[in-house]
Amino acid sequence: MPHVKKAILPVGGLGTRFLPATKAMPKEMLPIVDKPLIQYAVEEARAAGIEEFIFVTGRGKTAIEDHFDRSWELEQTLQSRGKTALLEQALAFMPPPGQIAYTRQQEPLGLGHAVWCARHSIGNEPFAVLLADDLIQAESPCLAQMVDAHAELGGNMVAVMDVPRDETQRYGILDVVEEDGRLVRAKGLVEKPSPEDAPSTLSIIGRYILQPEVLQELDRQEVGAGGEIQLTDAMARTIGRLPFNGYRFEGRRYDCGDKAGFLEATVAFALARDDLGEAMRDIIARNGGAS
Ligand code: UTP
Repeated sequence: MPHVKKAILPVGGLGTRFLPATKAMPKEMLPIVDKPLIQYAVEEARAAGIEEFIFVTGRGKTAIEDHFDRSWELEQTLQSRGKTALLEQALAFMPPPGQIAYTRQQEPLGLGHAVWCARHSIGNEPFAVLLADDLIQAESPCLAQMVDAHAELGGNMVAVMDVPRDETQRYGILDVVEEDGRLVRAKGLVEKPSPEDAPSTLSIIGRYILQPEVLQELDRQEVGAGGEIQLTDAMARTIGRLPFNGYRFEGRRYDCGDKAGFLEATVAFALARDDLGEAMRDIIARNGGAS
């Protein structure tokens, strides 16, 4: 199977659930502990072997471009103050020059539309899509797990996890044919079904490896659930022509597009840090317990 080299990072959404924080700042720049959500996503993609990053941005998202750029004043200040560890950190997360491209989604018409806006940068090869607000804590980065599985299977692949049935209307849901270990073969997909109509409780979360045929399906610009152009609908239309697999990833996913999920991720990532774990445990104990 061709190696997956390109990733689309859609960051064109308005982030209304985080207003007023997101009025003048992109949602994807909100930090979990001390790192913006978008940096976690880029680091995950690099760990999976991605070499080209295509951001689909929108108005008010320039802070993301600045974040992945050199900052000469900052670098010189850190250098002159002898803060070499911080300086190395500031330089290490940036993909090499020429590996990042930006395109604009002029109107937030949905995730499918955002992905379609990057079509000219993809061409005719498989590509990954990462949604930064789905943050995954895992031993092996989620996208790397998927790239390995995809190398054997090809086709379209999405990260999946079970959700409570009363939450199916928040997700794309798989209509399952069979399961084999971490792999789930699907015969259909439904975007945001009500609990009674959901064909399963296995939901798609924000990691995808897709074939260029999905972009051709998006050419139709068909409007789906919520009046948006849905990526799920375009993927569903390729089932039958291309293999379609869900991948039950190892790891824990936090929905950082939602306030409670964002707070939980902050606690979990702080607890996992050598420099903050103990302080976080003290904070939890002082605020009513919980292990
Ligand atoms: P969400 O559904 O979380 O929407 O998008 P949102 O606008 O970011 O946030 P809320 O619901 O208003 O709070 C999921 C992902 O898809 C991207 C978002 O940037 C986010 O990464 N997206 C969504 C786009 O790039 N364009 C769109 O038109 C919609």
